[in-house]
Amino acid sequence: METANVNRSHWSSRWAFILVTAGSAIGLGNIWKFPYMTGTNGGSAFVLVYLLCIVSIGLPLLMAETMLGRRGQGNPVAAMGVVAREAGLGRYWKIIGLIGVTGALLILSFYSVVAGWILEYTLRATAGFDGITKESAAAGFAGLLADPLRLIAWHSLFMVMTVFVVARGVTGGIEQANKIMMPALFAIVLGLIGYGMVTADMPAAFRFMFHFDVSAITREVVFSAMGHSFFTLSLGMGAIMAYGSYLDKGTSIVRTCFYVAIADTAIALLAGLAIFAIVFAKGLAPASGPGLILQTLPIAFSQMPGGVVVGPLFFLLVVFAAWTSSISLLEPFVALLIERFAFSRKRAAWATGGAVWLLGIAVALSFNEWSEVKLFGLGIFDLLDSLTTKIMMPLSGLLIAVFAGWMMQRRHVEDEIALGGKGFALWRMTLRYVSPIAIVAIFLHVIGVVG
Ligand code: PHE
Ligand code: NA
Repeated sequence: METANVNRSHWSSRWAFILVTAGSAIGLGNIWKFPYMTGTNGGSAFVLVYLLCIVSIGLPLLMAETMLGRRGQGNPVAAMGVVAREAGLGRYWKIIGLIGVTGALLILSFYSVVAGWILEYTLRATAGFDGITKESAAAGFAGLLADPLRLIAWHSLFMVMTVFVVARGVTGGIEQANKIMMPALFAIVLGLIGYGMVTADMPAAFRFMFHFDVSAITREVVFSAMGHSFFTLSLGMGAIMAYGSYLDKGTSIVRTCFYVAIADTAIALLAGLAIFAIVFAKGLAPASGPGLILQTLPIAFSQMPGGVVVGPLFFLLVVFAAWTSSISLLEPFVALLIERFAFSRKRAAWATGGAVWLLGIAVALSFNEWSEVKLFGLGIFDLLDSLTTKIMMPLSGLLIAVFAGWMMQRRHVEDEIALGGKGFALWRMTLRYVSPIAIVAIFLHVIGVVG
């Protein structure tokens, strides 16, 4: 089963690859998660560690994971089998692919529920948020979480949307969807920033995010920021590997991955600034958690001229961002079912989507009926988030760094990463030393062994 399949689909151009990979990276992680994590983790301390992690771990790994996918020419499990065999190593390296394809489904189960919140707010925004206050905004969000049927209905719709695109295939579905949705997203984020500049407290937002208060860096901040740097770049979950496997030989992995990382980081920072500018202007609490954007933006939309148009448009684009990411979470396992178990693409997409949908129902219930269900002190939603983001992603990333940095033959790596002299050496050094050491050090730090 480890044979490379020469007949697999390919993106139609280099530009298409950049777009779909940016589509995977840019999502709820940037617009929903980054702002609230920054808020609950002390602002600038979190932003600083996050940026350091992107440069020293995220970007090198983004290139490495793309490379493994392209070289392996198969779903993440098969691709790892191919590259391991080429390096004269055993089948156990497939564990990287396995952690990826299963982790992606776990992420998708809660990702879809959160995307459902955004669908609800798209609808609410069309009615306008007239007369909303910070108290009623908070109550409005709490009311949604308390309503299991509503959460499940939106989650179901979002899963159907996701399956629909993946079932249509790599170029006809995934690429097509991204080509429509991604450009629109950039436009609206810039628009919101413009609004924040003019009417909200941008200086306070800047101070909160960038005054780099090193003393506020705690264990929890470091652990969360590392996890988030994986989450935001879609790393270690097979998504990048799967997309890389549809990339043709001629495209520069270095250049495309660089653009993707820049775009992803820029969108997160811009979204953060826009949200915190509103938070501080309205006297809201930065640390209010996963509901932050849903308790903040409605207030802004209620006050800006044309808010009934801008509001729904904005939430719709967040739905788009989430959608282009969720299809990349579904694709790896679907590719596995197609290639390994001879499923048709349609059946693979619906079957996988169905399983994720069931798990998502448990996530939706964890906000209400099942809020008492705890494991390791965490509810179902928090548990799935922490397990994937803080454990599975860094672990898989560590293995990828070790594999690509130490196990693969140098000439095979050079063959894929067409970077001249210094650049190649710098990337490889970072991948071999900085990334794995940083990941291990952070793990040890968190369990209290060092620092
Ligand atoms: N990167 C996506 C986001 O920021 C989430 C994601 C994680 C997508 C892992 C694919 C794989 O929203
Ligand atoms: Na992201």
